[in-house]
Amino acid sequence: MNPKIAIVAGSTRTGSVNKKLAMEAARRLGKTDVHLTLIDLVDYPLPLYDGDDEVERGIPVNAMKLAEQINRQDGLLIVSPEYNSSVPPLLKNAIDWASRVRRLGDRPVQPFKGLVVGLASVSPGSGGGMKGLEAWRPVMRSVGAEVITSQCAVPNAGKAFDDETGLAEDSVRMRFDALLESLIDVSRSLARTLERD
Ligand SMILES: Cc1cc2nc3c(=O)[nH]c(=O)nc-3n(C[C@H](O)[C@H](O)[C@H](O)COP(=O)(O)O)c2cc1C
Repeated sequence: MNPKIAIVAGSTRTGSVNKKLAMEAARRLGKTDVHLTLIDLVDYPLPLYDGDDEVERGIPVNAMKLAEQINRQDGLLIVSPEYNSSVPPLLKNAIDWASRVRRLGDRPVQPFKGLVVGLASVSPGSGGGMKGLEAWRPVMRSVGAEVITSQCAVPNAGKAFDDETGLAEDSVRMRFDALLESLIDVSRSLARTLERD
């Protein structure tokens, strides 16, 4: 069984270092047997979540589309910046909206239930965004995802990448590969799309 895994970056900024790490993950996962999908939040513009908005206008089409895309996956790699020791609003808002989706067409769905989630971050600072990763864990658990233990925070973004191996530091590269390997293994063993296809 080839697991279906998507990658989403928590920043859409031009020159985003997290997008760069997401692309490095895609390059590495592209050499494996996974069915890979890149989710770019630029393709899913959403208003800031507002309960009145949901009651008056319903769930936005882009939230439905994002939930549908996530619902198709066995695993999701989140590559997210840390903002003030926590999660960035762009991706949190997208996940909040997608978590409101309970039906797609005439099917009841729980887009995140049983989804295997891996966490990575990169930051110009020395912490690598580690506190942001810890902040993502309860968020993703609360929407029903299985967050794997392995994670990778990449510090000193300015020096972290190189053209030859992707990630300059041996120890960082090993941690990143271990995270991807674990995400593939757990997504394969807990594969939830079998029941749906
Ligand atoms: C509002 C805000 C808060 C931030 N807080 C942190 C932080 O707590 N820890 C950290 O390492 N970097 C922090 N940063 C710096 C980001 O890590 C840096 O801007 C990074 O490049 C953002 O990721 P991106 O390049 O993928 O957009 C913060 C940046 C912003 C805009």
